[in-house]
Amino acid sequence: MRTQVAIIGAGPAGLLLGALLHRQGIDHVIVERQTPDYVLGRIRAGVLEQVAVDLLDEAGVGERMHREGLPHDGFSLCFDDRHHRIDLHALTGQRVMVYGQTEVTRDLMDARRAAGLTTVYAAENVHPEGFGGHTPALRYALNGTPHRIEADFIVGCDGFHGVARASVPAQAIQTNEKVYPFGWLGVLADVPPVHDELIYANHPRGFALCSMRSKTRVRYYVQCSLDDHVEDWSDDRFFAELKRRLPEADATRMVEGPSIEKSIAPLRSFVAEPMRFGRLFLAGDAAHIVPPTGAKGLNLAASDVGMLSRALAEHYRGSDAGIDSYSQRALARIWKAERFSWWFTSLMHRFPEAGEFGRKMQHAELDYLVQSEAAMKAMAENYVGLRLDA
Ligand code: FAD
Ligand code: PHB
Repeated sequence: MRTQVAIIGAGPAGLLLGALLHRQGIDHVIVERQTPDYVLGRIRAGVLEQVAVDLLDEAGVGERMHREGLPHDGFSLCFDDRHHRIDLHALTGQRVMVYGQTEVTRDLMDARRAAGLTTVYAAENVHPEGFGGHTPALRYALNGTPHRIEADFIVGCDGFHGVARASVPAQAIQTNEKVYPFGWLGVLADVPPVHDELIYANHPRGFALCSMRSKTRVRYYVQCSLDDHVEDWSDDRFFAELKRRLPEADATRMVEGPSIEKSIAPLRSFVAEPMRFGRLFLAGDAAHIVPPTGAKGLNLAASDVGMLSRALAEHYRGSDAGIDSYSQRALARIWKAERFSWWFTSLMHRFPEAGEFGRKMQHAELDYLVQSEAAMKAMAENYVGLRLDA
């Protein structure tokens, strides 16, 4: 089999890249290790920046997002049991779209099926080869039968634990990593949200986030220990802990309900450089991870593949300028998002080793933030994604 672009991974990055390439008339195949149901079962991000919204529109899959998604003009920063509203729209002229990653993935999968595009699911032993030369190929097996796809380019959209980055010779890649000493315990439940905007709370017991998927479905998180196990967190224990970290009025108003999903995610900052190795490109979580506090993971994956799809289209029109500068341009944006995600994580979480000085400094920084129009504007611009392109 031969194609122009072979994509590894059918997460949001791979599916969106496929949709954008299809719009440009570029032939491609996606090879995914898991089944479609498994991919749809992963509950992850929930906030889309305008850049991601625009790319989903460009890919022709934005219709349901505009119908069912919730545009948010601001969010609430909570500390000392008080809300401080960050008015994103007044500060930046932009808003964000609350629409779950699962729904983005479903819309992309449906559009792909309707267009008759090839996605190979449940592929075993996926392996890119020959990307240092002129004839790269993707090998995999399906039900034990080996397959090989020849391509002009291979794109690794296969997430943090994928095979693409792992296939690059160690001396050709540099990795930068910070692992945080805590995780997020997340719960999905069919109850009305406690507030009409997201609440990010800094509390002496640890960070808490009240997010949502719709007017009838919430996604709530509490900072937890890395030694915690999901089995030890009954729904009652989760809601009791969440309520302790919120102002009393929110705790009183909160509607509790049985969890549909409950999971613990560790927090990590990670960047691999560069993002191109001959005819292999990396995009999304395959190349970088941010802690979820800044809501940047999915948005970075979308901007990577937006950039890469345009660069590949330019290549097929005769110019390599776009693919030659892809890594440098993507990394410039990524490091800005890494900085913001690290800063917001540092500001909002309880760090076991910080001590009294660290806690007071965090508090002083929060006070400064909500009293300084300039600091709030900078934060809002980063949150909506504006400063990342500057
Ligand atoms: P992924 O979504 O990881 O997709 C990669 C795909 O590649 C997967 O389908 C995988 O099965 C496939 N794959 C892997 N290896 C292979 C292989 N060898 N061969 C073929 N296919 C392969 N972001 C937020 O903004 N907010 C959040 O709350 C949030 N929570 C998260 C929780 C968790 C547990 C994780 C892991 C991430 C979270 N993120 C969150 C980040 C966000 O979900 C990611 O940034 C986003 O999923 C990136 O998309 P991607 O397509 O690059 O990678
Ligand atoms: C979510 O809804 O899952 C979500 C929202 C905002 C974040 C992280 C996660 O910063």
